[in-house]
Amino acid sequence: MSEAEVKPAAFEVPRHVAIIMDGNGRWAAARGLPRVEGHRRGVEALRRTIRAAGEIGIQVITIFSFSAENWARPESEIQELMGLLRRFIRNDLAELHRSNVRVRIIGERDGLDADIGRLLVEAEELTRDNSGLTLVVAFNYGARQEIARAARRIAEQVERGTLHAADVSMETVGRFLDAPDLPDPDLIIRTSGEQRLSNFLLWQSAYSELVFVPTYWPDFDRATLEAAIHDYQQRERRFGGLVAKTGS
Ligand code: FPP
Repeated sequence: MSEAEVKPAAFEVPRHVAIIMDGNGRWAAARGLPRVEGHRRGVEALRRTIRAAGEIGIQVITIFSFSAENWARPESEIQELMGLLRRFIRNDLAELHRSNVRVRIIGERDGLDADIGRLLVEAEELTRDNSGLTLVVAFNYGARQEIARAARRIAEQVERGTLHAADVSMETVGRFLDAPDLPDPDLIIRTSGEQRLSNFLLWQSAYSELVFVPTYWPDFDRATLEAAIHDYQQRERRFGGLVAKTGS
């Protein structure tokens, strides 16, 4: 699909696109390569996608880079994924900053290696005042865990008497999530043909359009992103109402 086919109107380009980057292992297996090679090529696909997202005019992109459930993988693969995150931040942070990208991290920080915790803080602090694309890295992230964390913090406030139980609303829960200031995703893309959310942004995806593409993540590129956006643009978003409207 050509660039011109992605409609440039602000309402038609999804403001927030979230991506489940799946299929690194299968991409590698199909080529007789170790799984780690799929993850490495996945980082290259990520760089391409961040660049394309900024050029297309997407405001927020969230990527699922390590799930709370990924700890069940072999230790060697976990260490490889941790190493890729370290290298991604060390090698790419300066360039992201130069490109005016604001980095945000969602997920559980407790239990991560101390140096990774520091790199995540460094990435957020360095880019805090940037006004371009917001890149949300979901790392050690699980949506049910995020909602449980929010519930715990709400309960703590009720215990302290700073919040009344009767005042807890959907808006309150939203305020206690990991990135409460960001808009919900308009579009969630999952690669590799799998068709489920796998504990990703369960609260925020209430009205998201879901697009599943067969492409393995290492092969994802601007054309695949544009095709998914084109698919999104054909959908009629009603948010539970009757009158069709676009955007959120
Ligand atoms: C899914 O492929 C992908 C992941 C578990 C991790 C995604 C990570 C990257 C793209 C690279 C790391 C980037 C950063 C910033 C840390 P899979 O292994 O589940 O593939 P499979 O389902 O084919 O086995």
